[in-house]
Amino acid sequence: MYLREDFISMTRLQNAQLFQMFLFCMLWICYVTMLFQMKPLKKHKQLKTLSILNVEKLVFDTNHRKILNKKPVNNFKDKDIFLINPSGLLCENFKCDSLQVLFIVKSYVLNFGQREAIRRTWGGMTKLRSKTVFIIGYLDGIDYFVEFESEKYKDIVQLNMSDQYQNVVYKTIYALIWLSRINITSSFIHFVDDDRFVDPLHIYDIATRTINSADLIVVGYLLNRSETVRDKSSKTYVSQDDYPFEGYPPYIIGGTILTNEKTVGMLAVAVEYTKVIQIEDAYIGMVAHSVNISMKHHAAFFAYKTNLTSFIRNGVSSPGYENTNILMRDWSLLQAKRHSIQLTKY
Ligand SMILES: *[C@@H]1O[C@H](CO)[C@@H](O)[C@H](O)[C@H]1NC(C)=O
Ligand SMILES: *[C@@H]1O[C@H](CO)[C@@H](O)[C@H](O)[C@H]1NC(C)=O
Ligand SMILES: *[C@@H]1O[C@H](CO)[C@@H](O)[C@H](O)[C@H]1NC(C)=O
Ligand SMILES: *[C@@H]1O[C@H](CO)[C@@H](O)[C@H](O)[C@H]1NC(C)=O
Ligand SMILES: *[C@@H]1O[C@H](CO)[C@@H](O)[C@H](O)[C@H]1NC(C)=O
Repeated sequence: MYLREDFISMTRLQNAQLFQMFLFCMLWICYVTMLFQMKPLKKHKQLKTLSILNVEKLVFDTNHRKILNKKPVNNFKDKDIFLINPSGLLCENFKCDSLQVLFIVKSYVLNFGQREAIRRTWGGMTKLRSKTVFIIGYLDGIDYFVEFESEKYKDIVQLNMSDQYQNVVYKTIYALIWLSRINITSSFIHFVDDDRFVDPLHIYDIATRTINSADLIVVGYLLNRSETVRDKSSKTYVSQDDYPFEGYPPYIIGGTILTNEKTVGMLAVAVEYTKVIQIEDAYIGMVAHSVNISMKHHAAFFAYKTNLTSFIRNGVSSPGYENTNILMRDWSLLQAKRHSIQLTKY
C-alpha cells in the first residue's frame, strides 16, 4: 500500500525530476557498494599476510582448474609436524616485513658445527637485509642440544620426522608450507644445503636481475637429462609404482634454488597434487612443471666444488664445504678479495 502511494505520487513528478532522482539513487547505490567493497580490502591490508597461501590458492584455482579437478594426492600435516617452530620469534629486533633474501637451509640435525659456521659466515654476516632459517629433522636422544641451539638462535625449524635421506624431500615440502604460513615477506628466497658456500650479495644481485616479483620461476643449476634409477640398492632408487617414466623432466638441482615468494606460494599448493618421490630436486621439478613454473639455468650455481679462484670469478654457490674450517677460511678470503676489488675500483 505504502509503495503503491509512493508510486502514484512519483508518476505525477516531472520527467526531469524523475531523472534526477534516478541519478541520485544510482549514485547512492554505487557509493554503498564501493563502501562495502573497500572494507574487506582495508582489513586485508591490515592483516598483512593473510598468508600467501590463500592468495595463491585463488590464483591457483583460476589458473589451474585442470589440476584442481583432481583430488589432492598428498595430505601433508601442517600442525603436529613442526616440533620447533620459531615463526613468531623470527622478527624480534628485525624488520622482517622487508627482507631482501631469506635463506632456507636444509640441514642434517647432527650438523651443529655446520650451522654455527654458516651463522658466522654467509648466513649471518651479510650486508643485506637477510635472514637464515635451518630446517632439520628429528633424531632420538639429542633433544637437549637441539633445544639449546634453538633457544639461543631462534632460527631452527624442526620436523617431527626421522632425519634420513629418504625424508629430505619432506624438508623442502614442509619448508614451502611453513613459508606460506609465516608473517615474513622477503623479495627472494634461497633454498640451500648446509654443505654449501654462498656469496649472499651476488645471490641477491642475480636475483634482482633474473627474477621479477610477478614471475613464477626457479633459478639455479638446471639438470637437463637424468635417468630414473631402478637399481634397488641405490640411494636414489624409485619404484615403477611411484614414478613410471624412465627419465625426469629438467629440474634445478636441489642444493641451491633461488626463487621468489609468489613461486613459493604456488609450489606450496601444488605439492598436494603431485605424488611424492624421494628424489627431492626431481620432485620439486615435477611439481614446478605441473603449474608451469619456469626453470632458468644460471652457471654461477655450481653443481661441483672447484677452487676458490673460479668461485670468486664465476660463482655464487658451491657445494663441498662439509669442513667448517675451510668454509670459514674461504669466507675470509672472499671478503678480502671483494674488499680489494672494491679498493682497486676507486
Ligand atoms: C611425532 O610423531 C609421532 C608419530 O609419528 C607421534 O606419535 C608424536 O606424538 C609426535 N610428536 C609430537 C611432539 O607431535
Ligand atoms: C601473523 O599475523 C597475524 C595477524 O597479525 C596473526 O594473527 C598470526 O598469528 C600471525 N602468524 C604467525 C605465524 O605469527
Ligand atoms: C640445459 O639446457 C638449457 C637450454 O637448452 C641450456 O641453456 C643449459 O645450459 C643446459 N644446462 C646444462 C647444465 O647443461
Ligand atoms: C606457461 O607459461 C608460459 C610463459 O612462461 C606461457 O607462454 C604459457 O602459455 C604457459 N602455459 C600454460 C599451459 O599456462
Ligand atoms: C681452478 O679451477 C679452474 C676451473 O675449474 C681451473 O681452470 C683453474 O686452473 C683452477 N685454478 C687453480 C689455481 O687450481
